Amino acid sequence: MVTKCVFPVAGYGTRFLPATKAMPKEMLPIVNKPLVQYGVEEAVEAGMRDICFVTGRGKRAIEDHFDVSFELETQIAGSGKEAALEGIRSLMEQASFSYTRQNEMKGLGHAILVSRRLVGDEPFGVVLADDLCLNPGGDGVLAQMARLHAQFRCSIVAVMEVPQAEIGAYGVIAGEAISDDLIRVTDMVEKPDPAQAPSNLAVIGRYLLTPDIFGLIESTEAGKNGEIQLTDALRSQAQQGCVMAYKFKGRRFDCGSVPGFMEATNHCYETFFKADA
Ligand code: UTP
Repeated sequence: MVTKCVFPVAGYGTRFLPATKAMPKEMLPIVNKPLVQYGVEEAVEAGMRDICFVTGRGKRAIEDHFDVSFELETQIAGSGKEAALEGIRSLMEQASFSYTRQNEMKGLGHAILVSRRLVGDEPFGVVLADDLCLNPGGDGVLAQMARLHAQFRCSIVAVMEVPQAEIGAYGVIAGEAISDDLIRVTDMVEKPDPAQAPSNLAVIGRYLLTPDIFGLIESTEAGKNGEIQLTDALRSQAQQGCVMAYKFKGRRFDCGSVPGFMEATNHCYETFFKADA
């Protein structure tokens, strides 16, 4: 059973400046709930109750969000406003939260490597909270992936079909289909030239990784901009061992971009918030 989930949240979120000058992008709200809370809910639903954040400077608001806010809670105790805190309080009861700092922004691969001590020698989930994944009425994407991991015991990456014009913004896989929604990965390329992309299947911000990934990241050379790419370590893992790509059930919103964020906001307002009001 996979119990740990890593949230790399050390990035600068430059696409949302100036909003992210003093506030983490993971705290941007989709209607009235921060992005990171959606991600933690998905992890807990998948049985991953040990939440490990890889943070950086200016990310204190995330720690405060998953902690008691004594003055506020005393002030609204007994009033109708308390109901708004039920979701986060229940999440805090179900999960434990650990934090470690990435003190140099050396890419997603490096951020994952920084979590090694917290994770130890066991498989773990990874959530990039700016990818919001929703599957109302069904299992969340991480829960779907945890089931596959129990079956195959290897690393799993979540993928989706992306139009050719957008494929250059993603890590892209090549592989052999095992079933309609499962592909055994043979190769992976980070941000390919669209004309040379090995497929139209892009990796999104959900991973389930086996712990040998840490050694593979360690031996990965820094690429563009001095960043250590998780994609490069996953390519080695696919070639030496086993990585599966999974076409998940549900809908993903790219909330790291302004259009995706707006789409998610409108969708959640219409689907959940307005319906409940
Ligand atoms: P992104 O490149 O999408 O995030 O990294 P960013 O750098 O925060 O955003 P922009 O592009 O400047 O707007 C993907 C994920 O990896 C984390 C980010 O926090 C984000 O969740 N990350 C990236 C780290 O934790 N450390 C890094 O060194 C790089």
